[in-house]
Amino acid sequence: QSKGEQILYSIHEKVSEFYHYYLNNTVNGEAALQYLLKRNLTQQTIDDFAIGFAPDNSQILWQFLKKEHFTDDELINSGIFYLSENSQQLIDRFHGRLMFPLRNMQGKVVGFSGRLMSEDTSKRSPKYLNSPETIIFQKNQLLFNLDRARLPIRQSNQVLICEGFMDVIALTQANFENTVATMGTSLTESHLKQVTKLAKEVVFVFDGDDAGQKAIARAFELSVAFPNNTFKSLIIPQKMDPDEWIQQHGSESFQKLIVQALSPFEFQMNYLKKSYDLSNQQELAWYIEALIKLIANIQSPIEQQLRLNNLIQEFNLSESLVKEQLAQANYINK
Ligand code: CTP
Ligand code: MN
Ligand code: MN
Ligand code: MN
Ligand code: MN
Repeated sequence: QSKGEQILYSIHEKVSEFYHYYLNNTVNGEAALQYLLKRNLTQQTIDDFAIGFAPDNSQILWQFLKKEHFTDDELINSGIFYLSENSQQLIDRFHGRLMFPLRNMQGKVVGFSGRLMSEDTSKRSPKYLNSPETIIFQKNQLLFNLDRARLPIRQSNQVLICEGFMDVIALTQANFENTVATMGTSLTESHLKQVTKLAKEVVFVFDGDDAGQKAIARAFELSVAFPNNTFKSLIIPQKMDPDEWIQQHGSESFQKLIVQALSPFEFQMNYLKKSYDLSNQQELAWYIEALIKLIANIQSPIEQQLRLNNLIQEFNLSESLVKEQLAQANYINK
């Protein structure tokens, strides 16, 4: 660990403690604390994740860090502060936001994500603002909560991967502790490498909206590089995200969704089903043809046979005809 890294870790730890204290113990932090409680987070959860609030006035944090003997250059290097050209003062880029510390595998704070509390989208600033990348923070490698989820992931032999911080926090509070999230970026092979070492089963728990569906398709594409793991995706009804579902329907209902999670084949079949009008004979034929192509792609010969049998039975098709189509699809795949 270089001297530069040590200073960055130390700044992040101090700032994280400051934001958390400020949320829990000051008048200026009250609205933020109320916001979290209104979203059904318990005080225990707020403390466990060390959620905080960044004061609107950057000088308060800056003065605190000066007492800790950090230089302006070090504070700018941390990515937390930038130099205002107008006032020549250091400004906390997160001021006025609800703060989520981001920890690496070792549990050290390496960055932050700050959420605006207003739902005012007319502002230019994004709902979530992340720290810029530094020598201790690489966005497309970090998984939120992996430090705390590691043991539960091993013990359950399963990992739940979500899109958002609030999803991880709500699921953890509901006792689904084997949960992590990407940093608002899409899933990478590096993310999968980290979690496939810890558990056999990987469940994608993305938002139920169209973006989430696209993300599942992409995640399944990445998953073929990990043949020793099983991958599933959970479709949350009514375009909700995991947090919203838990708030409205509770954790038992979420457990049911996990049990019903779809394999890559089932997910693609679902998608095909929605793409064709199955009451129309011509479209039904196209659907069956597309399904046969999907079956041709299945790696396990046994699973392939099972899926084929289902298809033959469901649509009362001739076995020889379907096998002939499969052979054709296989030929094209090669
Ligand atoms: N995100 C981001 N910038 C945005 C919107 C989203 O970085 N402007 C990232 C965040 O990491 C966020 C994730 O994408 O957690 C998922 O986005 P979204 O579903 O919009 O947010 P939620 O996690 O549902 O957050 P909340 O419930 O607080 O609205
Ligand atoms: Mn401002
Ligand atoms: Mn989303
Ligand atoms: Mn949400
Ligand atoms: Mn969401």
